[in-house]
Parts: sequence; C-alpha cells; structure tokens
Amino acid sequence: MYDFDKVIERKGTNSVKYDGEKMQDSHMIPMWVADMDFETLPEVKEALVKRASHGVFGYATPTESYYQSVVNWMKTRHHFDIQKEWIVTTSGVVGALKLAVRAYTQKGDAIMVMKPVYYPFDASINLNERMVVECPLVFQDDHYECDFEVFEKQIVDHDVKMFILCNPHNPIGKVWTRDELYQIGKICQKHQVYVISDEIHMDFIYEGNEHVPFYNVDPSFAEFSIICTAPSKTFNLAALQTSNIIIKNEDLREKFQKEKNASGMSDPNIFGLEACEAAYTYGAQWVDELVDYLSGNIAYMKEFFAERLPEIKVIDPQGLYLVWVDMRSLGMNKDELETFMLEKAHLWLDEGYIFGTGGEGFERFNVACPRSTLKQALEQLEKAIKE
Ligand SMILES: Cc1ncc(COP(=O)(O)O)c(C=O)c1O
Repeated sequence: MYDFDKVIERKGTNSVKYDGEKMQDSHMIPMWVADMDFETLPEVKEALVKRASHGVFGYATPTESYYQSVVNWMKTRHHFDIQKEWIVTTSGVVGALKLAVRAYTQKGDAIMVMKPVYYPFDASINLNERMVVECPLVFQDDHYECDFEVFEKQIVDHDVKMFILCNPHNPIGKVWTRDELYQIGKICQKHQVYVISDEIHMDFIYEGNEHVPFYNVDPSFAEFSIICTAPSKTFNLAALQTSNIIIKNEDLREKFQKEKNASGMSDPNIFGLEACEAAYTYGAQWVDELVDYLSGNIAYMKEFFAERLPEIKVIDPQGLYLVWVDMRSLGMNKDELETFMLEKAHLWLDEGYIFGTGGEGFERFNVACPRSTLKQALEQLEKAIKE
C-alpha cells in the first residue's frame, strides 16, 4: 500500500504551485495548477538517483526499452496497440500542441476548441496567429454534452482546419464515450479537419467510465489525427518534461518531426527518459491505488458540499483529479469570486473564467493532495462563506 496521506513540504523547491507570490499568505492552500502533492513511486526515484550517481550527462536518446515501456503501458492500460515507430518525444504536451498547429495549418486558419477548456489550447492557436473557433459545450443540470449539430455548423461556417480535443476533458472532468468520439471523428473526417487529441489525463478514470484512445474508435481516424500522451500528470513528473506523441500516419509524423526540428525543441533530457521508463514499467499498482485515493477525495468533497454547503454544486468528475464546481449561487461576479477565494477563503484555485465561454462563476479544484489538505481547504471555504 502506498501512502497518499503523507504531507510533503514543497515550499522552497522551485515549485510553481508552492513558491509563487500568492503563497506569501501563510494560510493559502494552492489547488490550481494540475500538479499533485504526492511523491512519485519509489522505482522512479531510484532510477533518477541511479542515473544521477553515474555522473556523466552527455547527450541522451530514447532506448529500445524506453519505447517498449510506452508501448506496453498503452496496451495493458488502454488496449491501445501502438508501434514504437509512431512515437515522437517532445518536452511537453503543450509544446506538442503548438508544433501540431504549425505543422498542419497556416497563419489565419481557423482551429476549433470546445468551451470551457484548458486555457493553453487558445494560447497555442493565438500565439501562432491562427484563429480560435469555439464550440460551446451544453451544461445540463449536472453534466456537459456536445451539441453535434453546433459542432458541425461551426466547422462549416468558419472553414475550420483543425480541432483540438481534450480527451478526457479538462476542466469539466468529462470522459468522452466511444459513441461521442465516433461522432466527433466522423464530422472531422467528412470536412477534412485534423484532430489533435490531448489524452494527457488518460490514466485518471473513475469507475463506470473508460478512456477510449481516439485511434481505437475507428481505424480510419489515424489518417487525420495525432494523440498526445505523457507520464507527467499520471506520475507527477511535469518538471521532467517528457511526452510521447503518437502519430501513426507517416506523412503527419514527418510534418510534425520537421516542425519539431525547426522549432529548436531538443529531445527529452536523460532524467525524463529514465523517469518515464521506470513509471511505465513499475507504476501500474501505484496508479491503481492513486486513482482509488483520488476517488475517495472526490467522494469526501461531494459529501462535504452536499451536507455543509448545499447551494454549491460539484460537477461529478468521470475522470481527472480536477473538480469543476459551480459557485454561481454565491451571486458574485468573476472578480468578486476570485478576490473572495484568495482573500477570505485563502484558496488559490483556477478561476472558471480563464477556461473561456461558460466558465464564469465556476472554480476548478485540484484534489490531488492528502485528504487532510483537502479537508482544511473545504473548512476554510465553509468558514469564509458562513462569515
Ligand atoms: C489537457 C492538458 N494538456 C496538457 C497539459 C500540460 O502538459 P505539459 O506539461 O506536458 O505541457 C495539461 C496540464 O494541466 C492539461 O491539463
């Protein structure tokens, strides 16, 4: 049994989450960025220590055993059969999204995203001088749906060239079903729209749901899509900057690789390679226990709100360790809500409005922390609201 209750001091460790200016408030609890407060599995630490103690850090390359660890993880965890030749390593998934935008579209082209969505999707499009087209998701009481008529209409009306899919979907915690993915894929195929499927959260799936890799929906989908994966969310390795982009189609792979070379992005560093291989080789049990623990945190949170703050609605996540919460009943505008969270509740959250259309009045809680931290955070929130 792994110990996810252990509280680890993270201040003073170059942590984006713990060393930011907002953390000067000694009561502040950071629950924003998707970065977990858990120690990764022992085999990853051991692999890193072993490599560090070797003391020679010349140029590195992924080995056969590295590729096999990725291939095996995808097969055993997701019934996803890939070949090692399809894998292109990058130093992050957001970097890969930017490369894909540049590789497959031209300046001024329209690229569609669903809203609300992980905000770097927009940035990847805008920074490369392409145009964002939105397909708003429909919020129905307690969950979100895609209106496929709107999805197709937006593609046609705006001559969309690419769609960036978040599978599963951050921030709303939706795990797309095979049928939904089929509809998305068929519409994109019909209108010759490239699909970039960001599957970085693929390993956080709760009971009753299944992650379906986009290529598994229909074999023909590999002709116009790429799949972004990484061990970084699953094993808390974000700072090691190692991702695996899966591109079956040779032409798409060549274009992506060419863009990667042109961008100056180098191959992942030796520690990233070591950590990824150890995680995918030894981490299955650790992830099973982690997902169990997270699902306990989510249950705790839902119960807390239902009993003590029933006016606030938790959108029950099907996946991810990020929980989307509807705070509109508090009657605050976005600035008031943000100030309230920071100054009264001492919680540093990702504000709903940063995820774009439909996000205002919501907050995204990162619950990948020991239960005691979550408990403290919810009690701080309750106290602030009741005051
Ligand atoms: C959907 C999604 N894609 C990508 C990332 C970040 O990926 P990376 O750190 O590899 O750039 C995140 C992090 O939260 C995410 O939620």
